Order: sequence, then C-alpha cells, then structure tokens
Amino acid sequence: MEIDRRAFVASLGGAAVVAGMDHEAKADALEHYMEEQLDEAQGQGQAEKYPTVAELEAQIETRNYRRGAGGLLVSTRGNVKKLEPMPARPTLEDFFRLRFAPANHVLQSATRAMKTGMSEEVILACLLHDTVNSLIKPDHGWWGAQLYEPYIPEKSAFAIRYHQTLRFFPDEQAGYEYPESYYRTFGHDYVPPQYIQDTYKMLKNHKWYMEPRLVTVNDLYAFDPNAKVSIDPFIDIIGRHFKQPKEGLGYDNSPSAHMWRTIARPDSPL
Ligand SMILES: [Fe+2]
Ligand SMILES: [Fe+2]
Repeated sequence: MEIDRRAFVASLGGAAVVAGMDHEAKADALEHYMEEQLDEAQGQGQAEKYPTVAELEAQIETRNYRRGAGGLLVSTRGNVKKLEPMPARPTLEDFFRLRFAPANHVLQSATRAMKTGMSEEVILACLLHDTVNSLIKPDHGWWGAQLYEPYIPEKSAFAIRYHQTLRFFPDEQAGYEYPESYYRTFGHDYVPPQYIQDTYKMLKNHKWYMEPRLVTVNDLYAFDPNAKVSIDPFIDIIGRHFKQPKEGLGYDNSPSAHMWRTIARPDSPL
C-alpha cells in the first residue's frame, strides 16, 4: 500500500507532533492510518470502519497482556527497556522525565489550556490528566485523581477524576464532540456502563462541571504543527499548586505514596 507521507503526518497533527512520538506510537499510528486508508478505498462507511464491541471482546484471548495494563508495565511491541533509577527524593518533574516521557499528549493538552487562557487549576489538571495510564488504564480518571489528590488543589483533582466520564458525552456549547478515536478504542456500538451514566448525571448539575469539561475540551490529539511541547512553561504553575513533599514522591507516607513507588519501581516482583 502506498502512503502519502504528507497526509499521514498531517493526520497526526503535524511534524512537531510526530517528532515527539516514540517509535511504538509511530508504528501504531501508521498501522491505524493504513487500516483507515484501506477501509476508505473499499468504500466502507463508518460503522464498518471501526470494530464492534463483540469484535474487540473476541481479541482478548489473542493477546498475552490485558488492554488495561499501564504503558510502563507492558510493551506491545518487543521487550520492555531497563529503566533509569529515580533520584532519592523524586519530584513531579523527575517522574515526567524518567517515567511518563514523552508525555506528549498531556503536554499538548496543557499547552492548549494555557494558550486559551484557562485557570491554573485546569492547566494543571490537563498536564496530569492521563499520566496514571503509565501504571493502569481502566478507570484512569479515578486512579489519577487519587494519585494526585494529596498534592494538588481540589478542583484539579475533581477535573482529573471526572474527565474520563465526560469524554463519552458531547457538549456542543463547550465545543466538545464525541472523539472519533473512541469508535476504534471501545467499538462503534459501545454504550458506557451504568456507573459512568450515573456519574454524568451527577456532573451535569455540579457547580464544578466545567473543570473536567475543560479537560475534555483540551483532550485532543491534533495540535499546532509549529508548537514545541515541553514541561518548562508549566514549572511555575507546578511550583504554585503542586505540594512537592520534601521526602520525595513515594516516601512521604501520603495515601498515594505506594502508587508513586510502584511507578518508580515497576520491575519489583512484589
Ligand atoms: Fe483520559
Ligand atoms: Fe487525554
């Protein structure tokens, strides 16, 4: 199959985005792109372009890992790499550099939040919203909020916890559509489970509805191709709103310290 390189790069959001992607992400993106091109060439509609829930279920026993395993715990292409040890008193920036890297998606989200003048609580939530996926993916909103709750403003934790729910529900007024990529990830006939529906009902009437909603608005994969993403623009916001423990993340006996230690040492057998 012939690939139009320019169209492929543009579909990912431009050259800068591609430059920030690791090898595995690039290979995945190329595979998805080729599948889409092939489907389009065959003149199929959207419903046939994406798997059904039943088809995704049928894939479970074709793998030797579960889809919910965090990116640090399993490699779907080749062996995992030896990790650089963490410093004795690790900071959030150390985790970004040594465990969450390249963190391109969350950096893009936070950059977009900053550019569009959102509050510092929302910018911080965008910066952190998916980082727990390195450890575990199912219910990552709840896991992520719990990981960060001892250290960040309540509004930011609320936004992280509930962005996962609001991702499934469009809000035209806020400028949020159901993500096309979810048809591929969850199946085109997917219906979110009851607890997600109930959480959405609660959120609709909540005074902080807009905090997680704004995380979803920034939760896009396309991006200004000329922008370079880095954690540097967020150091001041982290300094103002993230209570870095002096003992280091993982060693301050907080309710989520063990989660930080697991991210720091994912090769530990017990
Ligand atoms: Fe997310
Ligand atoms: Fe996200």
